[in-house]
Amino acid sequence: MAQFQPRVFSGVQPTGYLHLGNYLGAITKFVALQETHDCIYCVVDLHAITVPQKPAELKASIREVTAAFLAAGIDAKKHIVFNQSQVAEHAELAWVLNCVARLGWLNRMTQFKEKAGRDRENVSIGLYDYPILMAADILVYRATHVPVGEDQKQHLELARDIAQKFNLDFGEEISVRGHGEGFFPLPEPLIQGPATRVMSLRDGTKKMSKSDPSDYSRINLSDDADTIAQKIRKAKTDPEPLPSEIEGLAKRPEAENLVGIFAALERSSKAEVLQAYGGVNFSTFKSALIDLTVAKLTPIGKAMAELTQDQAYIDAILGDGAARARVLAQNTMHAVKDILGFVR
Ligand code: TYM
Repeated sequence: MAQFQPRVFSGVQPTGYLHLGNYLGAITKFVALQETHDCIYCVVDLHAITVPQKPAELKASIREVTAAFLAAGIDAKKHIVFNQSQVAEHAELAWVLNCVARLGWLNRMTQFKEKAGRDRENVSIGLYDYPILMAADILVYRATHVPVGEDQKQHLELARDIAQKFNLDFGEEISVRGHGEGFFPLPEPLIQGPATRVMSLRDGTKKMSKSDPSDYSRINLSDDADTIAQKIRKAKTDPEPLPSEIEGLAKRPEAENLVGIFAALERSSKAEVLQAYGGVNFSTFKSALIDLTVAKLTPIGKAMAELTQDQAYIDAILGDGAARARVLAQNTMHAVKDILGFVR
């Protein structure tokens, strides 16, 4: 992939509250990658409408996710922050990729099966097609690296398959036009660290999620110190003290989850946390986890609240980001149209 300029792309849906899973699985990675890569971070509002949304709430959520990006330390001047619907090329490339991807590939997507559940015949076609739009998000910038949580891994593999098939199907045109071996890079998922899958605080076998009906299952970025403390105090645990070695976490999903959260928040590893807290009971460990979580999250929550007050500022960031993203996306679409044989 030497021919491709390294570029990071990732997206977050503006639906419901942002939670600790989004923060540790994705947003902290976004922040770190700014040091080494050109980054594009997108509020994926076209993905949000794959399930019904109330317009006023959607608008507020788009601004809230943007505020979270900025509050967490994303530099929207050096990098690009925008909302997906302002750059029409995402939807345009998605159509092209719809014609490249195979039905059988989409039928394997486990997230669709989970989300559609028994109501399969009655969900939107957008929900089914969602991973294709996601591939388009990444490929329209010819992004090489995609930081995400573990739950997005299968979608990233699909994006790679689509990129590869496009490169093969149009190989001759691609090489005649001087794009070398392939037009699209095969985007690499970046799924690393101790919190790639943060679990529910009520059930260590379920993912922490925006759609869980119990607010006690997750810590929201907007939670204040008291709420964070209460949620961690109530988090499900088992009766044993913490083990000293990683192996001791096997079959203890709640313990493993809290240790993983602690490690990610202090940027260490589960092994290091267990070195410090092995043998300790949960009430002591939870107190330390509360202090750490409050110290890390409440400044972000406060900054988010302040930023969301200034709608004009947020909207200007999104507009400026979209203008810069559009230039890159249009370049890709021009080349794609030439490769496909469209007249333009
Ligand atoms: P979304 O909005 O559900 O989640 C945003 C990011 O947070 C991660 N995440 C988690 N990480 C660890 N533990 C959890 N419990 C947890 N819950 C969520 C997600 O993996 C994700 O990285 N389809 C994507 C958005 C998207 C996208 C893209 C991502 C659209 N286009 C292109 C990357 C590239 C989604 O629904 O994320």
